[in-house]
This record gives sequence, structure tokens and C-alpha cells, in this order.
Amino acid sequence: MEEIKIFAPASVANISCGFDVLGFCLDPIGDIMHVSKTETPGVQIGTVTGQELPIDPLKNVASVAVSALLEAHPSKKGFRIDIDKRIKPGSGIGSSAASAAGAVFAVNELLGKPYSRNELVQFAMAGEALASGAAHADNLAPVLLGGFTLVRCNNTLDILKLPTPPDLFATVIHPKIELKTIHSRAILKNEIPLKKAVAQWGNVGAFVSALYTQDYELLSRSMQDEVIEPLRSMLIPKFNEVKQAALASGALGSGISGSGPSIYALSKGKAMAIKVGDAMKTFYDQIGLDYDIHISSINEKGIKIL
Ligand code: HSE
Repeated sequence: MEEIKIFAPASVANISCGFDVLGFCLDPIGDIMHVSKTETPGVQIGTVTGQELPIDPLKNVASVAVSALLEAHPSKKGFRIDIDKRIKPGSGIGSSAASAAGAVFAVNELLGKPYSRNELVQFAMAGEALASGAAHADNLAPVLLGGFTLVRCNNTLDILKLPTPPDLFATVIHPKIELKTIHSRAILKNEIPLKKAVAQWGNVGAFVSALYTQDYELLSRSMQDEVIEPLRSMLIPKFNEVKQAALASGALGSGISGSGPSIYALSKGKAMAIKVGDAMKTFYDQIGLDYDIHISSINEKGIKIL
């Protein structure tokens, strides 16, 4: 195979209770990447459309991730990456993860698949580290594996794919401001009180159990964030109002998508996810803040070859 075209989807990390460990993959929104072999070894960024991204291979998360892969698996061929960037950087739905995971996935296919999707996470992490200043896999894992994922350990990359209850739909609203993960991580505290830690790990355990047992009420009770949301919510316009509107209109849970500013909700059924979206956008309509809104099923497959 000389070239490949792929769809690299957006994702929602943290899911309220699981900072840096939980995530799920979205369906309708994602980047289109075209990767082709070249005669000169190494990696280059070709054209970028849709958004402004660095062309310098040392500064682009896609090429940095591919360089990490090629260091472990050298190739006489080189690779050119063309990106139609449809996920806005700094929107909170895994823009850098889609680029990094998409690039290593595509190059791995062109190399004859030396690595599994799970093994590709380690290389894509180099891209995430460049983008956010901290290597975290909670967006990369759902993009590569699809569905819901849990990163049990960030160091050994012990990553689990979790089941998806059949009626679950996501609503994501992106108020059009840019919030860089590196900045929304900088305001977090390094230590948390034991009481909050206890609440948080109770919720993570219950959330995972709810996915296995399709217990939507338990899922709803466990989508709480005692640790991160209170700190980050002040960076997001009308966060509390939007979240409360989502819950009042019937969402199972709602919170910050990844590091924000997008706000996500999970609902039972597509009709409810649409109703929740209508309620969420009311506040941004009132203050005249522009937004994008997405209604999505859970993307079970992750990255797709086109
Ligand atoms: N877990 C990361 C964070 C996700 O919240 O900083 C960033 O998309």
C-alpha cells in the first residue's frame, strides 16, 4: 500500500469522574488525513486545510507522533501527511489526539501493521505531550480503540476497552472560544483532599460497573466531578447554567468535555440528546456567543479507513 485516507474522530475525555483515565469516541466530527509514502526517509507535513497548524515536522503533533513510531520501527521510506483539520484546536474534543492517533494509525497501515491499535497509543502520546505539556492517553485510547476506554496506568499504558450501553447518545456544545489544554491543566492543584479522592474513585468504579450492567441510573449518579470541574468551570462562559439546563431537560449527566471549553452531556436515546442540546444552547443564544453543537452516537470503531 502506497497511500491511505482515514477518518480520525473527536473524543470526550474525563467523563466527569475520570480525569485523565476515562474517555469515549464521537462519531460525526473528525479530521480527514491522507498519508502517502515518499522516497526520502522521515516525515513531512504536506497541506493543511480547515485550521492553521504548524508545517514544521518538529512542531506538528501528527509528525511528532509518527517520528516516535519510526524511531521504534525504522523505515527506508518516508511519509507525507496531508490534513483536512475539521476539529478545532483548543475546543476540548481531542483535536490533538485525533491528529496524533490518526497519523500513527495511517503510517502503521502503510508499514504493514507492525503494531496493534493498543500499541499505537505509546507513539501517539508523543504528540499529546507536545500539545498539552503532559502525556495523557484518555483521548487517544477511545480514538484508536473506539467506544469507552479506561487508562488504568498512564506509564505502562494498561488500557481497557469498556462496553457501550446501546441507547447512549452524546451532546457536545462548543462555545467558540479557544482554551488550550496546557493552560487549563496549569490551574489544577497537584494534591486533593482525601475526602474528594474517596468520592471520585467511588464514582469511577460505579461508572465502569454501570457500562457493564447497562444501569443508566447508576451511570447518572456517578457522573460527578469533585476535583477538576470546580476549578476549570470558571474558564467556561455560563458553564453552570448550561450544565443545569442539560440535567433539567433529562440528560443522565453533564460536565466539561476534556479540558474544555466544550460541555458534554450523555442521554438515553437520540431524541433526548437533541432535546438536551436545545436546552444547552439557550444560554449562548441569550448572550450572543457563537457555538457549534454535535449530537453523536458512541463511535464503537474509532479511526476508520476511507
Ligand atoms: N484529561 C485531559 C485533561 C484531557 O483534562 O487535561 C485533555 O483533552
